[in-house]
Amino acid sequence: MSAVVVVGSFNVDHVWRCDALPAPGATIAGQYHTGPGGKGFNQAIAAARGGAATTFLCALGEDAGGAMARELARQDGLTLNAEASDQPTGTGGIYVDSRGRNTIVIGAGANAALSVGFIEAQHALLASASVLLAQLESPMDTVEAALASARNAGVTTVLNAAPANAPTSISLLKLADILTPNETEFASLLARHVGERLEPDDVAATDGSTLHQLCRQLLPAGTVVITLGAVGAFVSHAEDQLRGDTQPYYRIAAEQAQTIDTTGAGDAFNGALVASLAHAPSAAFAQHVRFANRFAARSTEAEGAAASMPRLTPEG
Ligand code: RIB
Ligand code: NA
Repeated sequence: MSAVVVVGSFNVDHVWRCDALPAPGATIAGQYHTGPGGKGFNQAIAAARGGAATTFLCALGEDAGGAMARELARQDGLTLNAEASDQPTGTGGIYVDSRGRNTIVIGAGANAALSVGFIEAQHALLASASVLLAQLESPMDTVEAALASARNAGVTTVLNAAPANAPTSISLLKLADILTPNETEFASLLARHVGERLEPDDVAATDGSTLHQLCRQLLPAGTVVITLGAVGAFVSHAEDQLRGDTQPYYRIAAEQAQTIDTTGAGDAFNGALVASLAHAPSAAFAQHVRFANRFAARSTEAEGAAASMPRLTPEG
């Protein structure tokens, strides 16, 4: 039995650290390293290191990348159930600049083959969890099947709406009890589903009541958490479901960090959020967000994606 089930992607990340991100046509030198990534795996490792008994459902190729995923999951006590694919294991090409900012290209590979049938066969596992967490690096119908399966069993569903260009539908979003976009993903969801234009750079400075109204239009019955990087997070609840909070909307400041690499910081936040939710389901939601902020801040102080997740549990 797992308290947390994460459905999503595993990628072998190929990372180059460079002074500045390369401009089109440029050839520059960087320092190379490789390591585990993929939003799903990063979030599953974060949940496991955050103290939750966690199962990760994914698709892997029958290659060195797939073997790496299984071995690293084993080392972290993460249960990994993989659908075998004849496609290569997913890959990520990542440039990180001297300020810790990144640009990422992913090769979905096996991740694009994660099937509805595989997820539906895991219904008993999903139904016994306390929280399900998914992202958008898997096929949309597979993500939808996972959310629907969990929702039907009364499991709390969390959807991290990343990456921003995923072809989401309203029926998919509605299956989320908690939706967690960053400012770019929030802007793209607003444009797609609410018909409102808001520049990603303007989200953090937008007043709370306006953001709350936009969140209510996007997900009328659920909670929206907009992660704002170094600024922190904005939370908006449905008026009849405050999740232990006293305010329908509020901001929580980020934790200070000596940031060297923000790769996977959003994943750290999401994995820690669900670990905290599973740990203390009736605690005030703000407490889970504060823990997730702290966990994400620590993750930016180490290089890499999954490898940078701290071992930090809600009890401290
Ligand atoms: O969120 C960071 C992750 O995005 C990287 O690990 C990369 O693999 C992509 O999935
Ligand atoms: Na990191």
